[in-house]
Amino acid sequence: MKNIAVLVSGGGTNLQALIDAEARGEIKNGKITAVISSSPTAYALERAKNAGIPGYVVSRKDYASNRDLTIALAEQLKEQNIDLIVLAGFMYVLTDELVDAYPNAIINVHPALIPSFCGEGFYGLHVHEHALAYGVKVSGATVHFVSKECDGGPIILQKAVEVKEDDTPETLQRRIMEQAEWKLLPRAVSLFCEGRLSVDGRAVHIAEV
Ligand code: GAR
Repeated sequence: MKNIAVLVSGGGTNLQALIDAEARGEIKNGKITAVISSSPTAYALERAKNAGIPGYVVSRKDYASNRDLTIALAEQLKEQNIDLIVLAGFMYVLTDELVDAYPNAIINVHPALIPSFCGEGFYGLHVHEHALAYGVKVSGATVHFVSKECDGGPIILQKAVEVKEDDTPETLQRRIMEQAEWKLLPRAVSLFCEGRLSVDGRAVHIAEV
């Protein structure tokens, strides 16, 4: 059984999708054993509490730098025997030490079709503002392994979602969550826990069962 830590900063709807998938038995060979929040007031912590999952807060102000925070976080995750880290709307930029400690064992969900609308500064609603300003007719979500390049790691799953004429960043965000993120993330996490993902350069291969 793989131990999963989910890192969050906000509402935690992706965390909820993972909790619900686990309850339905859809995270095969995996269990969420920790939720770590960048903010003590994140609603995601309530979701963890309601599901009986231990919640922790890592505050940037307790550390001198992002690097110090990352090193402390990596130590905590190793102590807790975490096998897989899921970034589910986690808004701090973590430094390379976490990738060194967990190579191809950190999964991120991004609300666009990478390599579009990604990289530094592209997070949360900003991503959808950029997509609408560009005038794309489809956007979507990407679940990928985290590498040292921001949003640049090997892609595990992607799904396209239609952009509608009267979309606002909020309506587009919601449609992408419902149609893509909340489905792809639990599926990718289960594939990892089942040992079905292998990375070959940029390519992620998914083993059939
Ligand atoms: C999600 O849309 C996620 O894809 C995005 O933040 C939102 C978190 O929502 N992540 C990024 O933009 C990362 N670059 P949630 O807290 O309700 O899951």
